[in-house]
Amino acid sequence: MTYTIGFLGTGNIAADMARALNGSGHKILVSQRNAKTAAALAAAMPEVTIAPNETVVANADILFLCLLARTAAQVLPGLPFRADQTVISVMVDMPLARLRSLCAPATDIVLTIPLPPIAQGGCPLPVFPDCPALHRLFGDRNLILPQPSETALNAHLAASAICATLLDQMMTTADWLAAFTGDDDAAQAYVAAMIRGYLSDRPRPGALPAALRGLSTEGGLNATLRAAMAPAKDSLRNGLDGFRPRLGLPLGPEP
Ligand SMILES: NC(=O)c1ccc[n+]([C@@H]2O[C@H](COP(=O)([O-])OP(=O)(O)OC[C@H]3O[C@@H](n4cnc5c(N)ncnc54)[C@H](OP(=O)(O)O)[C@@H]3O)[C@@H](O)[C@H]2O)c1
Repeated sequence: MTYTIGFLGTGNIAADMARALNGSGHKILVSQRNAKTAAALAAAMPEVTIAPNETVVANADILFLCLLARTAAQVLPGLPFRADQTVISVMVDMPLARLRSLCAPATDIVLTIPLPPIAQGGCPLPVFPDCPALHRLFGDRNLILPQPSETALNAHLAASAICATLLDQMMTTADWLAAFTGDDDAAQAYVAAMIRGYLSDRPRPGALPAALRGLSTEGGLNATLRAAMAPAKDSLRNGLDGFRPRLGLPLGPEP
């Protein structure tokens, strides 16, 4: 079955999601902004058409909301939403209750959290409520993770913020290594391949603690560095806890 898929807000994450649908046979409508990104998608993918916001919304069977939340609050009212379409929001700071009023008469509205790797596949996609359309579009190459509540979905949003921190630590390690080897690219490739080696496409339960146990030899290099970095663990927890008010997560006790 083929769909007309709309993207409202053709920015970074919309572009990655559209690229993931390259060759899928669906018709894709992208909104005019960002003009450069929309033009690049249309040039690269014959199934992509650039259209005004009204046309995207009026024609989409499945509509992805990829705007900044403050833009959405201004843009969504007055657009011709339909009761029979599925609306999938990827927006931070835009609760489901607010979307229900902004996107009426649409009622099939869900929240998900795509990340840039979705362009190639292998992206975890927490979703609430569960959404058959999301499974059909992305389930073959990505890990769809239905959540029991909006709170659980929002906790995943907080957890997703670890990506830049981990990548920054990997870059710091690679830079430190390259100072000895003189080869930045090789150092980055070494660090990336090493960490990738601990991860699998379809994570198995218990895989992370098992890997950590294997790196816990007393007096070993890993255990020594981990002990030196212990204060960073509190900083990480504090940083995640700092998202609780913004994401509507309970303020305590500890999860
Ligand atoms: N980037 C990620 O990894 C990621 C991951 C998960 C969720 N999200 C969420 O996805 C949303 C978009 O993030 P992003 O990183 O893709 O930001 P972005 O690149 O800034 O995309 C937002 C897009 O909205 C467009 N826009 C502004 N006003 C518009 C209007 N009136 N009508 C139609 N489009 C309009 C912007 O166009 P102009 O450039 O012309 O202003 C821009 O292309 C955010 O809510 C973010 O929280 C992002």
